[in-house]
Amino acid sequence: MSTTFQLDTSTSRANPTPQPMRRLTVPKIRQRKVDGVTEEPLVMLTAYTARQAQLLDPHCDLLLVGDSLGQVIYGLPSTIPVTMEMMANHAAAVVRGSYHAVVVVDMPFGAYETSPKDAFDSAARLLKESGAAAVKLEGGEAMAETVEFLVQRGIPVMGHVGLTPQAVNVLGGYAARGRSDAEAEKIVGDAKALEEAGAFAIVVEGVIEPIAIAVTEAVSCPTIGIGASARCDGQVLVSDDMLGMFERVPRFVKRYQDLASTISDTAAQYAQEVRDRSFPGPDQLYQPK
Ligand code: KIV
Repeated sequence: MSTTFQLDTSTSRANPTPQPMRRLTVPKIRQRKVDGVTEEPLVMLTAYTARQAQLLDPHCDLLLVGDSLGQVIYGLPSTIPVTMEMMANHAAAVVRGSYHAVVVVDMPFGAYETSPKDAFDSAARLLKESGAAAVKLEGGEAMAETVEFLVQRGIPVMGHVGLTPQAVNVLGGYAARGRSDAEAEKIVGDAKALEEAGAFAIVVEGVIEPIAIAVTEAVSCPTIGIGASARCDGQVLVSDDMLGMFERVPRFVKRYQDLASTISDTAAQYAQEVRDRSFPGPDQLYQPK
């Protein structure tokens, strides 16, 4: 896939080849669902670094700078400790590394729940410091007023319902949601409230499949599933999960590669060659003229 880029050796900038079309926009994403139907599903992956963004961007409609970076990049136990600084810095790197996809940045826990004004201040800071096009926040009906406040003031919002990882301490874990009638009804109601508030798309995470389908049929904006249903209007995965960077594979993840083994085997080979002095070899050495 790196053949889609040409490296400018003076700047280390990876320029796409061929030159990409203009960057997609939030309205273009919203318009992909027409009269309840999304002909071509939306493709979203998480990205946290510039190089990762360069490699994923040509294949994606949306890149999500998820607060999953807490666990994936920083080795934190959950998304709760993730800060605004982390989100702004990684989002700026992803914007610098992408040309095509809409970049969406997660609002971290504690940055938006207290009031619509606090949410606006946090969202504005993230967009100003990173150049991302939209924010994502977790929560349904309880966040609808905030979503409306942001959208009316120029900040596109992606919603997130079902299993909302920032609420892990209330939910008691990461189990799939929507198994009881009351829970199922609430998830559909949450999604409708977000749509009415102006969310341009909604992530539906970790719900039993019939609920994911019910949400997708209930709202006119696109739904993006993760552990949800192929009948959602799009899909998202944490890139590092999909690439096989971790041994633990949740049910909803398909491991398309085994990068963990590739990296480990490569490091072992390097270590061996250093220890037996076969690296560096003649090709890697400078000789006198
Ligand atoms: O933080 C994240 O990566 C997410 C996706 C899993 C939807 O919110």
